[in-house]
Amino acid sequence: MMLTKEEERALSGEYGEALSQAMRILVKVGEVLGAERLVPISHAHASGVSYATIGEPGVHWLESLVKGGAKVSVYSTVNPIGFDPYSDIIKVDENFVKGQIRILEAFEKMGFDTSLTCTPYYLREPKPFERLAWGESSAVIYANTVLGAFTNREGGPVAVAAAIAGKIYEAGLQVLENRRTDSRIRLGFRPTDAAEWSAVGYAIGERIGQGIPRLEVPPPPRDHLKYMLAASAASGGLAMMVIEGVTPPKTYLLGEEEKVEIGREDVEHMFGSVEDADLVFHGCPHASLKELVELDNLIKEKVEKEVWVAVAPRLYERANDVIKSLSKKGVKFVRGTCLVVSPIDKMGIRKVATTSAKTYFYLKRRGLDVWLVRLRDVASA
Ligand code: F3S
Repeated sequence: MMLTKEEERALSGEYGEALSQAMRILVKVGEVLGAERLVPISHAHASGVSYATIGEPGVHWLESLVKGGAKVSVYSTVNPIGFDPYSDIIKVDENFVKGQIRILEAFEKMGFDTSLTCTPYYLREPKPFERLAWGESSAVIYANTVLGAFTNREGGPVAVAAAIAGKIYEAGLQVLENRRTDSRIRLGFRPTDAAEWSAVGYAIGERIGQGIPRLEVPPPPRDHLKYMLAASAASGGLAMMVIEGVTPPKTYLLGEEEKVEIGREDVEHMFGSVEDADLVFHGCPHASLKELVELDNLIKEKVEKEVWVAVAPRLYERANDVIKSLSKKGVKFVRGTCLVVSPIDKMGIRKVATTSAKTYFYLKRRGLDVWLVRLRDVASA
């Protein structure tokens, strides 16, 4: 990889051990991926922030960076953590709380905005062609597909290294030539709600696994897209789609496309009713203000079941009226966390009905009984 003189100095440790370590990570990964240079980024987003995910080894690594003087050099945000720090809705033991707090303190000391959300694009929406180093798969695919920004799916340590260096290797989806479609998805029906779009995303990810599909559909609302994209990034390894009328022009290329058909029969088997659920869950990725308003309009009477909605702490502060209204109707909020990154199985929750096929994917893998429900079903819980 060709480095500038300044980058060479940073790599050799002239500016401290932390920056040197960050540069070593970026150069090593970049070289494996065939990158020829590093490029500046405007925003890094770190995933792998929950103590449930990274445990003690992660805590030690982050603290060693702090000791080495690590500071972010660009706007940098962090993903949800393993419990809601604002309430006791998610029960974790003392050891877990201590570990999680040490992780958060390390991020804070490095200068990260501890935003605790998987929707960093609601905090600051990147522009087309903007280079990012994001580590949350649902946010990565949203940034590439909907916003036309350029980012790969970075692992936790790479996103942290990129935040410190303010750079990322130029490879993968950072290169226009690699943003080329290779399949064309035809939908045999018109999904009408976030959960149905989410199921479509799940089916696409499952069917094609990798690559950049082009979706031939009249563009659905962004909130529905968010659910679809997140699910396709979970069930497959997708980091980008192309949707005409949504994906900004010139941020992608058209390639030779294999045709893929997705019909109602590919998604319907994932759905069930709210009746048997211990918990009904919405907000994966974290819910937007518009979604909260939609849910509030749908819920006419107080819900009888446990209904949880995951939101970014900052949205919770901002959306006072709708939060109050939903709370009165019995809806509970989980802030800065979600069912996937927290150890909810230890709370005895076994049966989950959710609007998110991403949550469906991960909870199923953890052995929980989980199925999809539409947003209007949440209202009748
Ligand atoms: Fe966000 Fe958790 Fe879903 S981090 S995308 S709400 S799995």
